[in-house]
Amino acid sequence: MTTALITGASSGIGAVFAEKLAASQHDLVLVARSADKLQALANRLSQQHGIQATVIAQDLTAADGPKRVWDQLASQGIEVDVLINNAGYGTYGEFATGELDNHLNMIQLNVVALVDLAYRCLQGMKARGSGSIVNIGSTASFQALPYLGIYAATKAFVLSFSEALWQECKPYGVKVLAVCPGPTETEFFKVADFPTSLGESVGQNYASPEAVVDEALKALEKGQANVVTGGDHEPGVGECRAVLPRETLVGAVGKMFKGK
Ligand SMILES: NC(=O)c1ccc[n+]([C@@H]2O[C@H](COP(=O)([O-])OP(=O)(O)OC[C@H]3O[C@@H](n4cnc5c(N)ncnc54)[C@H](OP(=O)(O)O)[C@@H]3O)[C@@H](O)[C@H]2O)c1
Repeated sequence: MTTALITGASSGIGAVFAEKLAASQHDLVLVARSADKLQALANRLSQQHGIQATVIAQDLTAADGPKRVWDQLASQGIEVDVLINNAGYGTYGEFATGELDNHLNMIQLNVVALVDLAYRCLQGMKARGSGSIVNIGSTASFQALPYLGIYAATKAFVLSFSEALWQECKPYGVKVLAVCPGPTETEFFKVADFPTSLGESVGQNYASPEAVVDEALKALEKGQANVVTGGDHEPGVGECRAVLPRETLVGAVGKMFKGK
């Protein structure tokens, strides 16, 4: 039996990763802050699929959050074969008027915790000569987004880091994949306090989290370095960058994202 550690497993894309990986007979370690939601998911999936599901309720914005997760795994003798680095959030609004603590927590969760867990999990994967690391980026990985500036910058980091790691890890037999979803039907926009009108224009073609995870698992199987999920968004990302100067593009995106 292989074990998958999924961060942000209490809702959205992470919960669907848990469903699909349990169905393909992975034991699970489910991490997020909402202990009750994680426990309900763990109980249901272990009953349905006859797998072991371990719950670790942990705030990953805490500086020692990933280490606490790791220490708990070590105390239970659990090795991670598949890491789904999925927990993340964005907050809509101007950088200057937002809370500094919130900006720094976002970097801590979307970047620092992701790197920390990747490093810790990779040591065992490298020694065993197998394993998979899936890091959730975004279509925002490809483009600076005024009013979601920190969020887009964290996701640019995720894509760049993952692609580099993909290449470095080939000799170890470890797969690394950056998943870059377009707008997806989850709690993300509510958590981000996204203006409703803007949400509608950005997310006219919301993908389901099931479709995102299916595409991600196919791309992982094929050994891709990245995948943009939600086919409708794919052309916009690369083509605009190729044609337009960076200032023109960020100006246009800024006007679109000014929203409320
Ligand atoms: N939805 C989209 O349109 C979209 C598009 C591109 C990329 N993404 C990315 O997809 C990933 C999953 O997001 P989602 O769309 O599924 O949104 P979601 O439904 O809001 O799920 C976010 C998950 O992250 C967990 N989380 C948030 N803060 C945390 C913290 N401090 N410590 C530990 N866990 C925390 C949440 O659980 P708790 O609240 O229980 O802690 C939840 O399980 C994120 O990285 C997001 O940036 C989403």
